[in-house]
Amino acid sequence: MESKYDFGLVGLGVMGRNFILNVADNGFTAFGNDLDEAKVKALIEEGGDVNKVSASTDAKEFVEALSTPRKIMLLVPAGKIVDAVIENLLPMLDKGDIIIDGGNSFFTDTDRREIYLKEKGINFFGSGVSGGAKGARRGPSIMPGGSKEAYQHIKPIFEAVSAKYEGEPCVTYLGPKSAGNYVKMVHNGIEYGLMQLTSEIYDLLKKAGGLSNEELHQTYSEWNKGRLQSFLVQITSEIFDQKDDLTDGDLVDAILDKAKQKGTGKWTSQNAMDLGIPVPTIDIAVSMREISALKDERIEADKLYDRPTPKAIDKAQLIATSEQALYFAFILTYAQGMAQLSDASKEYAYELDLADIAKIWRACCIIRAKLLADITKAYRDEPALKNLLLSKAFVPKVQSTVDAARSLVAFGAINGIPLPGLSNALNYFDAYTSQRLPLNLIQAQRDYFGSHTYERLDREGKFHTEWEAS
Ligand code: 6PG
Repeated sequence: MESKYDFGLVGLGVMGRNFILNVADNGFTAFGNDLDEAKVKALIEEGGDVNKVSASTDAKEFVEALSTPRKIMLLVPAGKIVDAVIENLLPMLDKGDIIIDGGNSFFTDTDRREIYLKEKGINFFGSGVSGGAKGARRGPSIMPGGSKEAYQHIKPIFEAVSAKYEGEPCVTYLGPKSAGNYVKMVHNGIEYGLMQLTSEIYDLLKKAGGLSNEELHQTYSEWNKGRLQSFLVQITSEIFDQKDDLTDGDLVDAILDKAKQKGTGKWTSQNAMDLGIPVPTIDIAVSMREISALKDERIEADKLYDRPTPKAIDKAQLIATSEQALYFAFILTYAQGMAQLSDASKEYAYELDLADIAKIWRACCIIRAKLLADITKAYRDEPALKNLLLSKAFVPKVQSTVDAARSLVAFGAINGIPLPGLSNALNYFDAYTSQRLPLNLIQAQRDYFGSHTYERLDREGKFHTEWEAS
């Protein structure tokens, strides 16, 4: 009997091609499918041996080439295309087959697809994949959610192809239903926060410290050797070193200051709002992309208002303070994202293990960072930890760096340099660590104008006061 392929992949764009070649490199046979003849040919050529990797434009040939239960991964753009591919494959599949959506699908779409396919006997996985094209080729961080039993069929392949951190695979079964897509969504929310923070510290170092791109390159590379070590700090240092092909200058200075977004950061914020979970550093990172898009209005407004000229500041001191403040704000961003996962896990019955999540983020994904080893340990030591800020291991890390955040936020405010991510992280910290907030006044106001009632500190029950009479 002609032997069948272990793994199928639909969508042979850069991510799909790289992922399937990675599967083949790891001792599994794989078959690809794409409507584009050129992509099919390119994969067969690059694969080198059709017994290991082959592909077809024909969906029937593709399905028939796979061993059962079929394990079919989709790496196609999120949205209607995912539904269309599923509908196309469905009549040819057998009960027990597995479809894995590897894109950034919205988690409620995954829930809908999972229920729909379960009725037909097909197992559906929403599985975030992080690490970009390089990660897909050499080992991504993979975040699968779906049926625990069916995961056993894909586990060996995913563990083999994923990134490794000290020998441990950066993939684990995360939970039922859309757990995988939800975790990937929050991963991206954290990604937005960290990117905002690294970019505003760049602004500060450049405008107040007068650092050249070469000095910025040196600074971020130094930081990347210490506790800030992370993919985003590393690529930031490399970006400052990149010359422009089209001019004599540095590339970073030629790039338009408008950041685009595909939506996962916004979804993180929106869903956090829906669930009543505060993630202000992620919220502001989304808003900053929106403010960045208002380039024409910003130019107009810039002409209407005076801005203070940043005061001279000792460069070495500014760099040292920035390192501390960035470390503080990175912790606060992870803390908010992890708190969102913790609360969402209860709301959606995902039963997430936060230590496992931090663990699979330690290598290859966009938010990989040295800090994640400490975060993994904090959740391992205290699985019921409500917030990273409550971890005894994190108290000294935060306590020793918060003053740096305070001084930079104050400096930025006085000198007209926006540091919205840092100040939101600091305000979140100050609010979260305050026994008493002024929200008693808000309750009084609500009761005053709307008879919404209030609770009291000294006795149980709901109270209402006839305020206007007083
Ligand atoms: C990853 C990334 C990736 C994401 C891009 C772009 O983990 O590999 O999160 O999935 O799509 O970073 O996101 P935005 O276009 O929203 O910035």
